[in-house]
Amino acid sequence: MEENQILNYLREVLHPGKGERDIVDLGMVDSVKVEGNRVTVLLVFGKNRDPLQEYIIGSARAALYRNCPAGTEIDLKAIVRDQEEEKKRKNNVNDLTLDEINSVRHIIGVASGKGGVGKSTVAVNLAIALARLGYRVGLADADVYGPSVPIMTSTEGEVPEAMEEDGKEVMLPIEKYGVKWMSIGYFAQPGQALIWRGPMACNALKQMILQVRWGVLDFLLIDMPPGTGDIHISLVGDIPMEGAVIVTTPQPVALADVEKGVNMFRNEKINRKIFGLVENMAWFTPEELPDNKYYIFGKDGGLKMAATFGIPVLGQIPLVQSIRECGDAGEPVALSTRPDSLAFIELARKLAEEAEKD
Ligand SMILES: Nc1ncnc2c1ncn2[C@@H]1O[C@H](COP(=O)(O)OP(=O)(O)OP(=O)(O)O)[C@@H](O)[C@H]1O
Ligand SMILES: [Mg+2]
Repeated sequence: MEENQILNYLREVLHPGKGERDIVDLGMVDSVKVEGNRVTVLLVFGKNRDPLQEYIIGSARAALYRNCPAGTEIDLKAIVRDQEEEKKRKNNVNDLTLDEINSVRHIIGVASGKGGVGKSTVAVNLAIALARLGYRVGLADADVYGPSVPIMTSTEGEVPEAMEEDGKEVMLPIEKYGVKWMSIGYFAQPGQALIWRGPMACNALKQMILQVRWGVLDFLLIDMPPGTGDIHISLVGDIPMEGAVIVTTPQPVALADVEKGVNMFRNEKINRKIFGLVENMAWFTPEELPDNKYYIFGKDGGLKMAATFGIPVLGQIPLVQSIRECGDAGEPVALSTRPDSLAFIELARKLAEEAEKD
């Protein structure tokens, strides 16, 4: 016996006073637990005494006896709860979406079809570059499995302040380098891996975006976790993202991954804009030969992909040792006056131009 199965049995119980809707649909089943041959069900009733309460409890008990195997021990309890209060509590996150996220002009996901192509590097440097151009910028690290923002900005160990405002819990982002940062990494114990089941991961990362006091921002970038799975679809669906920047490397094999990334935003249910493609590691330039370009992953693969999907190219970022070193040291290259930082400033300019088009 599984919890889901028990829920299905309980769906046979219709509430005659409420248009014959079933009690699961009506949210009257608070919890179901199955341990061995023992089934525990908690039903919840509204504060205003439901005249059909006893009838419902009886029907639920009957439905369970009817469907469960002989010998099942059935423990059915009922509690009374103020449903109005409950509703208000559940709506808190949604209220926040409206209050807070509405003061952000452009919410843009930084995504890719596959891991390790430099999403986080591009997202963090792009955020800093946009701030250097004078925009108000935030970045939410939505990679709940491998958050990289705390290390890349050298803010590990900082803990965002949490506060209650009008009965809602909000977190204050960490401010550094002119950007507001938020990451689940700020809440993890050092060295402790974060292990989440799908729905938990989804909720956790929605909070990292929606329950944050971002204030007024021109750009909120979202560093998406690698891949194009359920988490992504749900994230794009639940966060009022305007569109995405897709990061790729130039190899021909990346084409299929870019296609997945593009489809994630373009599928008919989601239907968001693709601001453009960033070709990362477009060529390699050694420190000691700054004018040389070696196309180790192939030449212009990203440009060809962009043409294939009909999206603009926002920029090409070279593979240079300093980009990795600066990232590891927590001082992203976009902060510097080095020539490598110019590539990110150019990228920021192009993205801002695309975003302000309409
Ligand atoms: N243009 C570049 N030049 C040099 N090193 C780079 C460049 N882009 C990324 N890297 C390095 O490559 C590694 C992977 O980059 P990053 O973590 O940004 O990728 P990601 O796509 O976010 O990965 P994940 O899928 O794990 O989230 C990092 O060590 C980073 O410093
Ligand atoms: Mg990353």
